[in-house]
Amino acid sequence: MIKIGALVSGGGTNLQAIIDKIESGGINGSLSIVISSNKNAYALERAKRHGADTLVLSPKDYDNRREYTLALIDALKEKQVDLIVLCGFMLILDPVFSEAFPDMVMNIHPALIPSFCGKGFYGLHVHEAVLEKGVKLTGATVHFADGKVDNGPIILQKAVEVRIDDTPEILQKRVMEEAEWKIFPEAVALFADNRLRIEGSRVRILEKKGGRF
Ligand code: GAR
Repeated sequence: MIKIGALVSGGGTNLQAIIDKIESGGINGSLSIVISSNKNAYALERAKRHGADTLVLSPKDYDNRREYTLALIDALKEKQVDLIVLCGFMLILDPVFSEAFPDMVMNIHPALIPSFCGKGFYGLHVHEAVLEKGVKLTGATVHFADGKVDNGPIILQKAVEVRIDDTPEILQKRVMEEAEWKIFPEAVALFADNRLRIEGSRVRILEKKGGRF
């Protein structure tokens, strides 16, 4: 059983999708701690309902990004987590974060990386940019996070159709329902089953062990 730590900032629907898969026995792990950058995040309620420990660490209480990142690292190390999931975490952390947790941090991005990603592309802004560009396909990406924004070996991606009358809100909902809430819990389950191997910038997914032996 792996111990999972989650960082959140908002509604936490991706956190909920992971909680649902844990509760249905689909992830060989438990949620040790949920840390929010925002005391009003609804994600905290979801965590409490599941029985997970919660903590609010607000960037306003720290002098700079590095100090804030170090506080997050301390809280996660204390819980001895094996995997950290960024579930709609809207802050850019100091690179010391991914150095402290190499190949242990997973992020969900609401587009097909390397499109519509990087600084400024978060939440609804991503879907606004997709509609402005006029692409016909978008989607979601789960990747291991390295020190750069929306960067690191890609684990799973799923494409989603863009429709002519979409608004950013409608498109966001479709991307969540058809892609994010499926591939993020799935990637966590694969990690917990030790089926992910990073090979340079690529991730190999090992076959599920079968048979009787
Ligand atoms: C999700 O669409 C997630 O992919 C995105 O914000 C939303 C959070 O929703 N994350 C980013 O843009 C991070 N770069 P949630 O709180 O309901 O999971």
